[in-house]
Amino acid sequence: MKIIQQDFSVRFTYPVIFTEHLFSIENQSFIQLFPNSTTKAARVFFVIDSEVTAAHPTLVSAIAKYMDHFPQLEQIHVPLIVPGGEQCKNEPKWVDKILEMTSLHGIDRHSYITGIGGGALLDMVGFAAAISHRGIRHIRIPTTVLSQNDSGVGVKNSVNSFNKKNYLGTFAPPYAVINDSDFLLTLHERDWRAGISEAIKVALIKDLAFFERIEQDAEALASRQMPPMQTLIWRCAEMHIQHIAGGDPFESGSSRPLDFGHWAAHKLEQLTKYEIRHGEAVAIGIALDSTYSMLKGMISEADLNRILTVFAKLGFDIFHEDLLKKGENGTLSVINGLHEFREHLGGELTIMLLEKLGKGKEVHEMDTDLIEKSLQLLQKQHYSQQMA
Ligand SMILES: NC(=O)c1ccc[n+]([C@@H]2O[C@H](COP(=O)([O-])OP(=O)(O)OC[C@H]3O[C@@H](n4cnc5c(N)ncnc54)[C@H](O)[C@@H]3O)[C@@H](O)[C@H]2O)c1
Ligand SMILES: [Zn+2]
Repeated sequence: MKIIQQDFSVRFTYPVIFTEHLFSIENQSFIQLFPNSTTKAARVFFVIDSEVTAAHPTLVSAIAKYMDHFPQLEQIHVPLIVPGGEQCKNEPKWVDKILEMTSLHGIDRHSYITGIGGGALLDMVGFAAAISHRGIRHIRIPTTVLSQNDSGVGVKNSVNSFNKKNYLGTFAPPYAVINDSDFLLTLHERDWRAGISEAIKVALIKDLAFFERIEQDAEALASRQMPPMQTLIWRCAEMHIQHIAGGDPFESGSSRPLDFGHWAAHKLEQLTKYEIRHGEAVAIGIALDSTYSMLKGMISEADLNRILTVFAKLGFDIFHEDLLKKGENGTLSVINGLHEFREHLGGELTIMLLEKLGKGKEVHEMDTDLIEKSLQLLQKQHYSQQMA
């Protein structure tokens, strides 16, 4: 036997910049990302979430003015406006449209594709950028809480296929991420709230002090105060990127700690035909796995109450009727989600539960009777909250 052993590593580095008024001429956040060349302008193509352009009607002209102002920048074509939300991940035509634009306008691996929008749009644009020419540089400008504190700062992108969430996708670190908190001002209430669940997720599995901070700030966050939201996004994004750098960035193992609460969440998103937001589903998934952790004797009832109380103060529902839908085999469809979750990861089923507040613990099996019991408890709690 003869072997040539290949061995190399590739270093990735990208900034996550926090700013306001991103496309005002004085703001350096965007321009400083590019080489200061007098001979060759950086060519940038923008893809923007339709609800962002609707809520920020001067955005497209501000970008045009900004791009015109700096000779080192050249805007490729006018921005492509894509319907925001999960539909852009469900309909293959949007990836195709971006690929067509790269072909028509010579958008090559030295150009930049900039996505501006919620997590769904960024996932779709990131995927199109990653597969075109085997990877065009991709800049993310997230405009929701969830995308600023979680999805937009990481290394994954995807679209849905075969009725399965995130079935197609790649690991492709962005060139840069810019979080502008001005975008958050126009979010619908549900989208302001939804992303907070990802912060509660990292806090519960890794950082008790952060969880306590969210408990303290719950009313202020619920009344849409910006400073506590900026603090929450900063800390959550920071923990997210530290986690990626510290472990298994491209998820080759079976362990995915940041997927706490996500096995049920992903299934519930599909069961509700994506009517529920990812962050709303994650809140329910966390409530379910926390209740399960309590029933398993891993956390106390008092701890569980703290978790459910913070969700209630923030206005989250911790139960959804579709959790009771049954599949063809007569079992609850959500429980089938466990198998789909394992299949998506490959390898051994690995589920994050709670050992205590601020510390997660992975297990490799879940007891379906206890899951059903957890669902019943949550349903009861949900109705008593509604009556109160
Ligand atoms: N890649 C990852 O690692 C990762 C991680 C978590 C979630 N995700 C994905 O992220 C998606 C969810 O992202 P999301 O919660 O941002 O939801 P979203 O992208 O669906 O956006 C929610 C709604 O808000 C609108 N919107 C966006 N910005 C706005 C603004 N500034 N003002 C007004 N409206 C605005 C959108 O058009 C959409 O209708 C899901 O597809 C989920 O699978 C990806
Ligand atoms: Zn998530």
